[in-house]
Amino acid sequence: MGDGRFITVEGIEGAGKTTAIDIIRDWVKGQGGDPRLTREPGGTALGEELRDVLLRHREDGMSAEAEVLLMFAARAEHLDRVIRPALAAGRWVICDRFTDASIAYQGMGRRLGIDRVRSLGQWTHPDLAPDLTLWLDLPVTLGLERAAGRSRPDRFESEQSRFFEAVRHGYATIAEQEPARVQRIDASGTPAQVRDGITAVLEARFGG
Ligand code: TMP
Repeated sequence: MGDGRFITVEGIEGAGKTTAIDIIRDWVKGQGGDPRLTREPGGTALGEELRDVLLRHREDGMSAEAEVLLMFAARAEHLDRVIRPALAAGRWVICDRFTDASIAYQGMGRRLGIDRVRSLGQWTHPDLAPDLTLWLDLPVTLGLERAAGRSRPDRFESEQSRFFEAVRHGYATIAEQEPARVQRIDASGTPAQVRDGITAVLEARFGG
């Protein structure tokens, strides 16, 4: 495998990102690559500390502005320490969420506005965008059903379905605006269907 590629995976809770990332990792390895798996918020020591702050319940809540800036603080560190060095070394980076999550969750879910959050992305990484984003899409009720029963819900998982409807709408808007980069995968299908969908996208984009 030659130059590294930057692949991000997005979706609401219960969409199946973990399984999708396994499929992508196996595909990249099958091509002879050595992918670097990472996640947001997190991926660095500081990023994981910020993740704790962001996901933990707080009696006094958190402003949407503080939330988005902490997401981007973690992202800046992640870009500097993990993503850019790996790409520069020719490695493939598979990242569980990136700036699209801020656009969908903070821009739409928290109503900060897509353009306002996108401008933070422009400021933080003006020269870098994912080569491919897989958006695992499924109805909110199904996602929440699948996510239910996991460990105690964090600050985001405790949101109501109206919040996740807005997030889903955010992802749909990004996919409409950037159809070349963002590929929608129907995540409501069987595991085999989802696997085939993801593999087909990877083959079409990077295969042969
Ligand atoms: P995870 O559950 O995918 O690990 O992500 C943790 C939560 O953080 C998830 O509910 C989505 C949320 N999130 C945002 O709200 N904005 C962001 O920019 C990122 C990266 C995650």
